[in-house]
Amino acid sequence: MTQVSSSNETSQQLYSRACAVMPGGVSSPVRAYQSVGGQPFFIASGSGCHVQTEDGDQYLDFIGSWGPLILGHAHPAVTTAVQEAVALGTSFGAPCIPETELAEKICAMSPVLDKVRFVNSGTEATMSALRLARAATGRDGFIKFDGCYHGHADSFLVKAGSGLATFGESSSSGVPEACSSLTGVLPLDDEAALEEWFAANGDQTAAVFVEGIPANCGLLPQRKEWWKKLRDITRAHGTLLVVDEVITGFRIAPGGFCGLEGIDADLVTYGKVIGGGLPVGAYGGRKELMDMISPDGGVYQAGTLSGNPLCMAAGIAALEAVEKVDGWQRLEELGRHWEALLAPLIEREKAAGSPLTLTRCGSLFWLSFDANNAPRSYEAIPASGADRYGRFFHELLQRGIMVAPSAYEVGFLNLAMNEEILDAAAKTFGEALEASR
Ligand SMILES: Cc1ncc(COP(=O)(O)O)c(C=O)c1O
Repeated sequence: MTQVSSSNETSQQLYSRACAVMPGGVSSPVRAYQSVGGQPFFIASGSGCHVQTEDGDQYLDFIGSWGPLILGHAHPAVTTAVQEAVALGTSFGAPCIPETELAEKICAMSPVLDKVRFVNSGTEATMSALRLARAATGRDGFIKFDGCYHGHADSFLVKAGSGLATFGESSSSGVPEACSSLTGVLPLDDEAALEEWFAANGDQTAAVFVEGIPANCGLLPQRKEWWKKLRDITRAHGTLLVVDEVITGFRIAPGGFCGLEGIDADLVTYGKVIGGGLPVGAYGGRKELMDMISPDGGVYQAGTLSGNPLCMAAGIAALEAVEKVDGWQRLEELGRHWEALLAPLIEREKAAGSPLTLTRCGSLFWLSFDANNAPRSYEAIPASGADRYGRFFHELLQRGIMVAPSAYEVGFLNLAMNEEILDAAAKTFGEALEASR
């Protein structure tokens, strides 16, 4: 891995300029590096699995725009599709063939989708799915799990992960009590908590929202028995199970987490991968539920730019390019390789008295510092690991590798990576671990 040589002076100047006109100089909080210290780099371009900064340095990128870039940056199939689409007009506010094509494609790939509605972000997808669940059940309350992030709509900003996990906040200011009081929060990995909640409140609970693989507060895959309990108990109480696949959808498997694990969700939410790197979200599920959406039904939800041909073309091209190379299988292979490379480093850390665990699900991975066993809930994550992570993060940066600027965010492998690149990256991870101890 190359040593980064520049002083980052250009990025620093650009950041000061940005801070004068944007809160924290960023458009999304975690980008500001607050939990790891230092200042963010300005990215000039991306190609494959690398990004180039405005300072002229190249980094191996494990962030991948936080999930959408399953093919890496500027994949030729996606850029060509976008170039062709843009020349025909970016948005018409009227039906166009690409939106039907993407809808057909993802309905065919996902076992839980009869119909789908496109929106512009994961946040819009979960917000709209909640409205639909409330309408379908005639109930207002719902539950989510501690550490799960479902975007930034008011109702979900209660004990959320992602940037909020970084800040150690359990909610956001500006959310009315009347709104958050309808959000119940339970710990993951805890069947007894589910039973207790449903015994007391089951008949007032419209929905349970859960990430397919919780990946916004570390990576916290849940046990099969837990999923079975969740499905059984929601069904018994007429509560909808909404699986948020904004990260896992079309990344972890062609049919997402629900397809992989046979989870019979009532509704699912998507984003990230289905936009090929452009802003798209979607929610969908069984026909009788989706037929409640306006104009077929009374649940209003709309969007000026929703389903625009540009984003749809990017999504179609990305999914086709992944299919062409059996990308899901390839990512699993790469993931296994990465896991095998990190295993001896983890053993070495343990021997040096610094517990460390790796959790990996396909192309998602997370290193948890100070943890002796892979955590399965927010409560099980040692808070003490964050300091070491900050040092590790900067040691990696100096050696030309970008990982998420937060101890609670996962790493993403992509199809532009290969064994050789990962071999070199693992060597660098080893150096950074040693230097940050
Ligand atoms: C599981 C999950 N749901 C919803 C969202 C919100 O998506 P967006 O940032 O596109 O609004 C995210 C974003 O990271 C997510 O990880």
